Amino acid sequence: MIRGRGIELKNRDQLLVMRRAGLVVAQVHAAVRDAAAPGVTTGELDQIARGILARHGAGSSFLNYGADWGYPPYPAVTCISVNEEVVHGIPGDRVLASGDLVSVDFGAIVDGWHGDGAITFGVGDLAEPDARLSEVTRESLWAGIGAVRLNGRLGDISHAIERSIRSRPEHYGILKDYTGHGIGSAMHQPPDVPNTGRPGRGLRLVEGLVLAIEPMITLGSSIGITLDDEWTVVTQDGSRAAHWEHTVTATKHGLWVLTALDGGEAELAARGLPFGPLAD
Ligand code: MF3
Ligand code: CO
Repeated sequence: MIRGRGIELKNRDQLLVMRRAGLVVAQVHAAVRDAAAPGVTTGELDQIARGILARHGAGSSFLNYGADWGYPPYPAVTCISVNEEVVHGIPGDRVLASGDLVSVDFGAIVDGWHGDGAITFGVGDLAEPDARLSEVTRESLWAGIGAVRLNGRLGDISHAIERSIRSRPEHYGILKDYTGHGIGSAMHQPPDVPNTGRPGRGLRLVEGLVLAIEPMITLGSSIGITLDDEWTVVTQDGSRAAHWEHTVTATKHGLWVLTALDGGEAELAARGLPFGPLAD
C-alpha cells in the first residue's frame, strides 16, 4: 500500500521477504569482517560478498546504481571506505593494513525487496580514538533505532542520533548532506532520515514503514568531499570516519532490525526495548 508523500508501506508478506534480504546483508557483514586482515585487498572482500549473493540467488542493491540517471554506474556490490573515506569507497586493489578503520556498506535484493546495512571495524590494532569513534557511531545508530515507535515521529529518530553523538565529551562531526532513507522495493525511498533534527517533528511512524538508519560520523569535519572517481566521499580535513547502518521496522509488538542476524533481539534487550519480529 502506498500512502502520502510517496511513502511505501509494506504488508506482512513483504516484510518477511525484506527480512530474508536483511539476513543476506548480515551474513555478508560477518563474512567480510572475518576475512579482513592485513594484506587482504578491498576487492577480495567484495568478491566474498558476491559469492554470498550468488549462494542465496540474491541481487545487489549497489551494482550499477546510478546508471538510471546517467551517473557513472557503481562498479561493485560493496562500498568499502577506509580511514578518511566516509562512504561509497569503491573496492579494488587497496591492501588493508593494521590500524585501518574500515566501513563496509552492503545492500541485497531478494525477490525485488531490498536490505541495506553498514558496519565499521578495525584491521589488526586500532588506535583508541578510532575504536571509540566506531563505538560511538554504533551507539548512535542504536539510539536512533530505539526512537522508532508506532505513532512517533521521524524527527525523534534524527534527534536521538544527534543527541547520542553530541552528548559525548569528545568532539565528533556528523556528516552533512547524507542521510538515512526509506527502503523497500527500491533501496532509496522517501522519507530521508537525517542524522540531526528536532523531536516531535516530521512524518508519523506507522506499521509497514521501513527505514535505513545510518549515522556517518567523523573525528573532525562534518563536510564530505567527493573524489574524482565520482563516488568516494572523504572528510574535508582528512579525519577518520565511521558508518553504521541497519534496516529497521516497527511492528505491533516492538522493533525488528531486519539486517541484524538475531533481528536485533540482544541489542534491544540490553536497552530495555521491545523486540517485535513477525513469525513466518
Ligand atoms: N548503501 C548506501 C546507502 O546506505 C548507498 C550505496 S551507494 C551505491 O544509502 F552506489 F553503492 F549503491
Ligand atoms: Co543506506
